Amino acid sequence: MNEIAAPRPNNLDAFWMPFTANRAFKAAPRLLARAEGMYYYTPEGREIVDGTAGLWCCNAGHGRREITEAIQRQAEVMDFAPTFMMGHPIVFQAAARLAEVTPAGLDRIFFTNSGSESADPALKIALAYQRARGESQRGRLIGRERGYHGGGFGGMSVGGIGNNRKQFGALLPYVDHLPHTHALEHNAFSRGLPAWGAHLADTLESLVTLHGDTIAAVIVEPLAGSAGVLIPPVGYLQRLRELCDKHGILLIFDEVITGFGRLGTMFGAERLGVVPDIMTMAKGLTNAAVPMGAVAVKSEIFHTVVDNAPAGIELFHGYTYSGHPLAAAAAIAAMDVYRADDLPARARAIEGAFEAGAHSLRGLPNVIDVRNFGLVAGIELGPGPGKAAERAGRVVERLL
Ligand SMILES: Cc1ncc(COP(=O)(O)O)c(C=O)c1O
Repeated sequence: MNEIAAPRPNNLDAFWMPFTANRAFKAAPRLLARAEGMYYYTPEGREIVDGTAGLWCCNAGHGRREITEAIQRQAEVMDFAPTFMMGHPIVFQAAARLAEVTPAGLDRIFFTNSGSESADPALKIALAYQRARGESQRGRLIGRERGYHGGGFGGMSVGGIGNNRKQFGALLPYVDHLPHTHALEHNAFSRGLPAWGAHLADTLESLVTLHGDTIAAVIVEPLAGSAGVLIPPVGYLQRLRELCDKHGILLIFDEVITGFGRLGTMFGAERLGVVPDIMTMAKGLTNAAVPMGAVAVKSEIFHTVVDNAPAGIELFHGYTYSGHPLAAAAAIAAMDVYRADDLPARARAIEGAFEAGAHSLRGLPNVIDVRNFGLVAGIELGPGPGKAAERAGRVVERLL
């Protein structure tokens, strides 16, 4: 199946590519024309292993027929219907199906269209909840250094990647950050959860001392990917959970990349043994066949916000495409595929081999760390003189 009919685009100018060195790309484009299973194919028909599942989103492989057909069927039945003041059956079905697989208690689902779009409602629901329970002084949000919660202003503000922030001014006020947990001097070449660093969660205690009872929520990725695979130290998330409970703070997990099997369970929360109050997800929710994101919240949070509101709309937030019928169809089909394939169990079954493969790179020139958990591995290269990411860029070129 290496024959590709796709023509090359003859004008690359119009598309302002996201998170891309546009000038370099357009001088030397890398195009992917087709995908199937675990491979991409270039316009020339060259096969490339998709080692990152797209952008961490095609969890069950590309082009799953069950999902494609579900989208096609739904497109014929109904292309679009609003979810503001109206409803359509398939979106309720998708929410109920999702609530079956989210961690126990997180059974109210707010739909969005991406991971970025999920950060805002998660943060807004946390603020609305604190207000509804009579804690309206809790208007402060805590993120973490090197965290990534997408490109919206809410997610960027609690996020902690310098390059994503520095072009865009002051961002949200009343935000503070925990330290990140990356510490090669203690944890280099760790397999599974690194041993050192649980105490870094205690910084939340210092932030409470600093900010008093004004903190509404803490948002972290249980395992972070965007700023270089940061695996939580043993006991770290448990400590965060304890401190949030002690101080009346909600704990939000961003499970956009850890959801849907990647860590050997449906969500990272299960494998890591800590259940948050609110969880964001996207990517694998539809196996990336149609954009969709979601926020799952504990029903107590839903009831506090909804039951305490005056008659009328209880949460002033939503998107035209919250629960788009094609996305809902794709999500249901994707969850069927994950269940039929038993994707989390398959991830667990191969993680040992994956770990051994990743760590076999130890000892190669410039490899200063290998770390892994579930089906995620980070291979860290020492920076070239004065050029932090240049070496990694050259490795990508060579691999392609
Ligand atoms: C943890 C996390 N949150 C949010 C996002 C943003 O998701 P999206 O690109 O779908 O907006 C990403 C994307 O990589 C992510 O890794």
